[in-house]
Amino acid sequence: MSQIQGDIHINHAILQQMVQSLWQYAGSSKQEAQRVAEHLVAANLAGHDSHGVGMIPSYMISKSQGHLQQNQQLRIAKDAGAVLTVDGGQGFGQVMAAEAMDLAIARTQKLGMCAIALRNSHHIGRIGHWAEQCARAGFISFHFVNVVGDPMVAPFNGSDRRFGTNPFCAIFPRPGQPPLLLDFATSGIAYGKTRVAWNKGVNVPPGYLIDHQGQPDIDPAVMHEAPFGSLLAFGLHKGYALAVMCEILGGALSGGQTTHPKTLKNASDAIFNCMTSVVLDPAAFDAPDMQQEAEAFIAWTKASPQAGDNAILVPGEWEEAQRAERRLHGIPIDANSWQQICQAARDAGMPDSELAGYQPQA
Ligand SMILES: NC(=O)c1ccc[n+]([C@@H]2O[C@H](COP(=O)([O-])OP(=O)(O)OC[C@H]3O[C@@H](n4cnc5c(N)ncnc54)[C@H](O)[C@@H]3O)[C@@H](O)[C@H]2O)c1
Repeated sequence: MSQIQGDIHINHAILQQMVQSLWQYAGSSKQEAQRVAEHLVAANLAGHDSHGVGMIPSYMISKSQGHLQQNQQLRIAKDAGAVLTVDGGQGFGQVMAAEAMDLAIARTQKLGMCAIALRNSHHIGRIGHWAEQCARAGFISFHFVNVVGDPMVAPFNGSDRRFGTNPFCAIFPRPGQPPLLLDFATSGIAYGKTRVAWNKGVNVPPGYLIDHQGQPDIDPAVMHEAPFGSLLAFGLHKGYALAVMCEILGGALSGGQTTHPKTLKNASDAIFNCMTSVVLDPAAFDAPDMQQEAEAFIAWTKASPQAGDNAILVPGEWEEAQRAERRLHGIPIDANSWQQICQAARDAGMPDSELAGYQPQA
């Protein structure tokens, strides 16, 4: 693949307008297109380009292959009060997960907690987005997610890909301040970050990839060109063990699927997720000093003398800093990814005259 160097910067509101229009041309209702656009651009704003607008070409292929189903509605498969199981019908994950969180939030308002398992959804993107939806309602949440039948990651002590990048996420709201937010893939780096590096023509740091023979590698091409290598889990056996629990709690407990020979996707571009989320109302606990205790811990931790140039952050602060920077200076997109997004817009039916209106300055 030929690499074009350099980033463009695009205003987030203009980008969102373009992405919404693209999905409307591609057949989504206005509301669906808006939700998908909001989610993708919000992922870029949060600094996670791996789950932002760069996903559009892959979603278009999934649609053309008949996997991604537009304009789906979430179906409740089982309602057991505090436990809900819902089916996404291969619909846009950006809509299915939002509707699932709406249900869980309403149940938590009534019961103090809710566990909700979402299965059979197309890619649900950046998981932190769903946790933030819970935190805006004042709730704590945690999320176990698997990527069905799309192995990318080798088991600890293994040499080939056996399961997905299975993210884990947890959030703790802080009144008047951004929440604490843990949100990461259980692979050392997200697959999408290898796509971003590959598109930019740069290597990834050592320790994240192995080649098709199980040997350490730094070239992101091993994830995008045959013969395929694998990602490694973060933190040796610990990240691997968490990935296993995400696979089982996300894929099996939801009544969805885990990764094994019967569920392998066989060259399909579609990404399907299952997510089991637990949403908790802190007010239902006997913890009147909860916020003060949390803040005291954060202050104590951040008071550690800095070891080098980088400040001590708590989870979620990195994303907040990215948002502030990108709202001000625009979202950086590498030239290869931008070309692919523009081609996807043309394929969706957007006329060149409209596309020209979204072109940013280099
Ligand atoms: N839908 C899917 O199938 C899928 C699969 C994998 C990943 N993802 C998403 O990909 C995104 C990127 O994942 P990733 O693994 O590349 O994330 P990452 O490695 O960038 O880690 C992000 C997490 O680390 C925290 N963090 C960053 N710097 C920190 C610091 N100095 N101190 C304390 N905390 C810090 C962030 O606040 C955040 O919680 C996530 O949003 C994830 O949900 C989705």
